[in-house]
Amino acid sequence: MDQFDIVLALARTAASGDSERARHQIQRLVQALEKSAPDQADRLGRLLTREAKRQEVAPMALEQMRATAAPSPILPGEKLGRATPLPHDRETATPLARIVFPEDNAGLVPVLAPVLADALDDLVGEWGRTEELAALGVQPNMRCLLYGKPGVGKTMVARYIGAKLGLPIVEARLDGLVSSFLGTTARNIGALFDFADRYRCILFLDEFDAIAKARDDSQEVGEIKRVVNALLQCLDARGRRGFTLAATNHEHLLDPAVWRRFEGRIEILPPDAEARHSLLSRFLQPLVLGDAEMKMLVWMTEGMSGADLETLISGGKRFLVMQEAGGSNGSRRRGLLAALRRQAMLSGQLFGEERRRLLLGTNDDLAAELVTEAGLTQREAGLLVGMSQSTISRRRRNVANNDEGRASGG
Ligand SMILES: Nc1ncnc2c1ncn2[C@@H]1O[C@H](COP(=O)(O)OP(=O)(O)OP(=O)(O)O)[C@@H](O)[C@H]1O
Ligand SMILES: [Mg+2]
Repeated sequence: MDQFDIVLALARTAASGDSERARHQIQRLVQALEKSAPDQADRLGRLLTREAKRQEVAPMALEQMRATAAPSPILPGEKLGRATPLPHDRETATPLARIVFPEDNAGLVPVLAPVLADALDDLVGEWGRTEELAALGVQPNMRCLLYGKPGVGKTMVARYIGAKLGLPIVEARLDGLVSSFLGTTARNIGALFDFADRYRCILFLDEFDAIAKARDDSQEVGEIKRVVNALLQCLDARGRRGFTLAATNHEHLLDPAVWRRFEGRIEILPPDAEARHSLLSRFLQPLVLGDAEMKMLVWMTEGMSGADLETLISGGKRFLVMQEAGGSNGSRRRGLLAALRRQAMLSGQLFGEERRRLLLGTNDDLAAELVTEAGLTQREAGLLVGMSQSTISRRRRNVANNDEGRASGG
């Protein structure tokens, strides 16, 4: 059986419980069957779509994003397949792009604030209705820049958009694109755009500032100018032929002319408290924490990006396993605080400075802050830091009395 290798890979991933990769193998099987057994390929394909729709994904704002299924846009160009040869850098033979197929990201849903989710929905909606818009004489926004701090999910959002529109993403690979040979970077950019223009796809220029730095950057004037000019020309020539997404952490470094080329500019903000709650619950799986523990975590992680939260929780899980391996029988609740303290020591700058100081300070101070700032009850704070409610209450009274005494004493 020709497809036996795929079936074997599918069986292996299914047996390991990795449903994401199993889906990918099914997709491969669909492609392999397309010619020889189109009926079977079709049935398998429908099964995949049905399952993807049924999949239970993240809570809150995301509901809105999934509710509106985007129609697949009608774009000119050839179909990109897994066997399509990629463009390469001529000197080093490094590929200039990698292709991310929509089925590779079928279950991927970023957690975003509702207003942002709405804005993205609009963009995806527009991109899915190019024909209808054209009939009315309007063009959709074909170029969109995603910007925001590191780790807030820009790359994830780009892949999510591709998956939602059912379009492959041509992701520029900077290691291949940017060359130390004079003039080569500009030529590579040209080759990348030629490739993207030829196929039905989204071109995604990730870490965009590396190729779009301001032309007046004093260090590498000549080459940078050449690169930015090539980029501007390519962006203009690509025009309405396909969608272009770019992402950067350094929007202020972009050349103003490049910035202007992007009609859509979406800032991805760090997650607010509600989004942090969702992200933490997602990363904690299969662990489930109680209300008080979640309240403390959400408050402690103010200012962190989604990627930071993932790092924190992975570290916490490692800590938990090590504790269990060491035979410690400390209580689960105190374990959370111990895990946070360990992460505050091990991962520099993960916590904001003030929260870090508090975590590494005394239990008294921490309990007091959890009550006054994080909104925990005295009982909850007591359980988390290992103090009795009456102790917390007494100390808070003492502090209040002292403050009053100082105020009245002048
Ligand atoms: N909004 C989010 N929703 C869900 N997961 C997120 C989110 N933001 C970050 N993550 C997690 O962090 C990881 C890194 O995110 P991603 O690479 O998309 O961030 P980025 O903004 O592109 O970062 P960088 O600026 O470093 O390129 C993701 O794979 C995901 O696990
Ligand atoms: Mg990124």
